[in-house]
Amino acid sequence: MKILALNGSLRARSSNGAVLRSALALTDAASTVADLAALPHFNPDLDGVDDAPPAPVAALRRAVAEADAVLVVSPEYAHGVPGVLKNALDWLVSSAEFLDKPTAVLTASPSPTGAAYAHEQLRETLRMMSADVLPDACRNLTAIGPKTDPATATVTDPATLQELRTAMAALRDARSA
Ligand SMILES: Cc1cc2nc3c(=O)[nH]c(=O)nc-3n(C[C@H](O)[C@H](O)[C@H](O)COP(=O)(O)O)c2cc1C
Repeated sequence: MKILALNGSLRARSSNGAVLRSALALTDAASTVADLAALPHFNPDLDGVDDAPPAPVAALRRAVAEADAVLVVSPEYAHGVPGVLKNALDWLVSSAEFLDKPTAVLTASPSPTGAAYAHEQLRETLRMMSADVLPDACRNLTAIGPKTDPATATVTDPATLQELRTAMAALRDARSA
């Protein structure tokens, strides 16, 4: 099984990066993390049917197409989806690689309510794109700070690790169903 991961945070010490790393470590899947920073701003003028898309866009589309499942992790900025992640999703709307793709959404924030707004927005956008968003593979992780170890950039809280284990099992089961 191949999982492609998209992280809405570009921060080197991203807590969502820790969530991503720990979630993937709980699977035996091969995994790749997409380079969202390389993407140009979405512009429909660059996305014509007869034109080759910009190279980073072509690479992202290929990576989604070749993945058996997609793991989306993200913080929220100003109660919304970070621009870098929304930009990536916008490039994937018309090309349809997400169609029926088993997809997990994990959001994390230091806030006691987590990244609840971005979580719902991401699930709605992905559903609109006809991704197979798996409810059992979606988690909004609250108060994430002390649940991670900055030295290893991984999740250390046992209850959170169990949530990640459950989510990744749902992703694997959808793939083998
Ligand atoms: C511009 C900006 C806006 C933010 N807005 C929110 C917000 O609306 N809700 C929230 O829970 N946290 C918000 N935060 C705090 C982030 O959740 C926090 O920085 C988190 O660690 C970012 O995720 P990361 O560690 O994966 O980079 C914001 C942070 C920044 C820099």
